[in-house]
Amino acid sequence: MGILDKHAFLERNATLLLACSFAVVTIGGIVEIAPLFYLENTIEDVEGMRPYTPLELAGRDIYVREGCYVCHSQMIRPMRDEVERYGHYSLAAESKYDHPFQWGSKRTGPDLARVGGRYSDEWHVDHLTNPQSVVPESVMPKYGFLTHAMIEGEYMQDLMSTHALVGVPYTEDQLENAQSDFLAQADPDSDYDGLLERYGEESVNVRNFDGEPGISEMDALIAYLQMLGTLVDFSTFYPDESR
Ligand code: HEC
Repeated sequence: MGILDKHAFLERNATLLLACSFAVVTIGGIVEIAPLFYLENTIEDVEGMRPYTPLELAGRDIYVREGCYVCHSQMIRPMRDEVERYGHYSLAAESKYDHPFQWGSKRTGPDLARVGGRYSDEWHVDHLTNPQSVVPESVMPKYGFLTHAMIEGEYMQDLMSTHALVGVPYTEDQLENAQSDFLAQADPDSDYDGLLERYGEESVNVRNFDGEPGISEMDALIAYLQMLGTLVDFSTFYPDESR
C-alpha cells in the first residue's frame, strides 16, 4: 500500500480519522501551550516604557468612551508600507499597560500608535473641534464639547488602583499623589517636580494642552495623544534576538 492508499483507508474510517485528528491537534496544542507555563514573561521588556500619568490615563478613558478605536487602530504592523508611513512597528511592550489594549481592527482614519509629537497641541484642538477645518474631506466627527467638559481628577486614585489591581505597577507614591499629579500636568505654573520624579523627566509633557483656563477633557485627551508612541527611543532599541 502506498502512502496515499493508507490515507484513503483513514479517510473512509470515520472513527479512526477522528481519533487521529484528535491526536494531531493535541500534539500541536501542547507544543504551543506548554512553553507558556514555563516562560516568566512573554513580553520583552523595553527601556522607556512607563505606566500612564493620571492625566494621560484620564485621556485614554475619554478616547475609549468616545469610541475613537472604531475608526483608529494603534498597532503598526511590521510591513514596509506601514513602517514607512507610521514609523517603527509596534512592540508588544508598548501596549503592556493598556487595559484594554487599543490595537483596533478598523482604519477609517490613520493609525495613531505614534501620533505623539507629530502635530502641535493647537493643531489637535482645531482638528478635534472641527476636523473638516483642517482636512476638508475628513469624515471624523467633531469633539469640541470636550473643551467645555471640565474635570478635576478626584476619581484618579480609584482608577489607578483598579489598573494596579490588573497588573499595572503603580507605586504607593504614584497612587497617593494621583490627583495632584493630574492637576499639575496641565498647569505649567504648578509645582510639577513631583510628577516628573514619579513618571520620568524625559517622557512627561507638562503644558496647558488646550490653551484654555482649567482642566478639560480636551486637555486630558491631547495629553494622551501627544505621548502615544513616544516612550521607546528607537534610535537605541534593538530587538532581543536571543528569545
Ligand atoms: C468616523 C470615524 C472616526 C472617528 C470616530 C474618529 N476619527 Fe480621527 N480620523 C478619522 C479620519 C477619516 C481621519 C483622517 C482625516 C483627518 O485628519 O481628519 C482622522 C484623523 C485623526 C487624527 C490625525 C492623525 C494623523 O496622523 O494625521 C487624529 C489625531 C485623530 N483622528 C484622533 C481621533 C480621536 C482622538 C478620536 C476620538 C475622540 C477620533 N479621532 C475619532 C476618522 C475618525
